[in-house]
Amino acid sequence: MHNLDTDTGHTPVSVLGLGLMGQALAAAFLGQGHPTTVWNRSHTKAEPLTAQGAQLAWAVRDAVTASPLVVICVSDYDIVRDILEPVSRDLVGRTLVNLTSGTSHAARETAKWAVDQGAAYLDGAIMAVPPAIGTPNATILYSGPTTAFDQHRQTLSSLGGPVYVGTDHGLPSLFDAAALSLVWSTLNGFLHGAALLCKAGIPATAFARFAKTGIETVADWVPGYAQQIDDGMYPATDSTVNTNLAGMKHLLHESHAADINAELPQLLATLAERAVTKGHGNNSYAAIIEQLRHPSP
Ligand SMILES: NC(=O)c1ccc[n+]([C@@H]2O[C@H](COP(=O)([O-])OP(=O)(O)OC[C@H]3O[C@@H](n4cnc5c(N)ncnc54)[C@H](OP(=O)(O)O)[C@@H]3O)[C@@H](O)[C@H]2O)c1
Repeated sequence: MHNLDTDTGHTPVSVLGLGLMGQALAAAFLGQGHPTTVWNRSHTKAEPLTAQGAQLAWAVRDAVTASPLVVICVSDYDIVRDILEPVSRDLVGRTLVNLTSGTSHAARETAKWAVDQGAAYLDGAIMAVPPAIGTPNATILYSGPTTAFDQHRQTLSSLGGPVYVGTDHGLPSLFDAAALSLVWSTLNGFLHGAALLCKAGIPATAFARFAKTGIETVADWVPGYAQQIDDGMYPATDSTVNTNLAGMKHLLHESHAADINAELPQLLATLAERAVTKGHGNNSYAAIIEQLRHPSP
């Protein structure tokens, strides 16, 4: 199969799925000069892209057979299979890059299926929002055979910084889940703090400045705590679990006094109390990971 377009010298790409993310992906390939074929269940979503030079495929098979590199980004993995199973024989010899979000299990299952069809398969996780696609701010994790990644690294760079995380197809989804745990936990902390202050008549905007500084401070702690986790030792050089637990009890008290939801500080205090019970009171905050490594009691 010819990988390069003879006119442009760029690898032709087909993008299946033109939701908010798929449109951004296709636009980024077009912007870097790749001959780009697009397909979407609802064809009208292709119009802005065809105006920029994309070829519209009316059928999935036409999209798949148009390019050696096929990128799919739809709502979930079941839909990926629904779309591709009827054209599975056309995947032979092509590289399929699945940028749909899902679980590591679904990624590994889909990888097995795709390889059985004769495709090279890369699974990916997009750690960015659509406006960031095509900029250095878009990190996209990939896994699968190194040969397929190396062959298409340059083309995939059109989307943002490609980061190869290994041959295990489940890893991008796992990293994505871990990163989302961080995002949602951080945001819930901000929202809880804002709810507490709003109850006292203080607008969230007044909190935003301190919240941003707090998030940046915590970000600076991450590399050191990560090292402690990998070492399995948690020497307290800044503050102990005991000190943090005392603060959590103040937060719980304030939440009850303000008559707002106290589930989040209660969860934090419960985990810290268990860590203290297990002898980690004088260790660093990172020791609380020992309470997260297993299902809750
Ligand atoms: N948006 C983000 O910020 C973001 C960030 C990271 C990762 N992602 C991931 O990217 C993927 C796509 O997200 P999105 O924001 O583009 O979602 P979206 O705007 O809701 O688009 C969903 C896409 O899936 C297609 N689709 C849904 N059900 C289908 C079906 N039964 N058959 C065929 N096609 C179907 C839609 O086709 P129609 O247009 O015909 O409905 C559309 O192309 C998701 O897995 C998401 O988690 C998104």
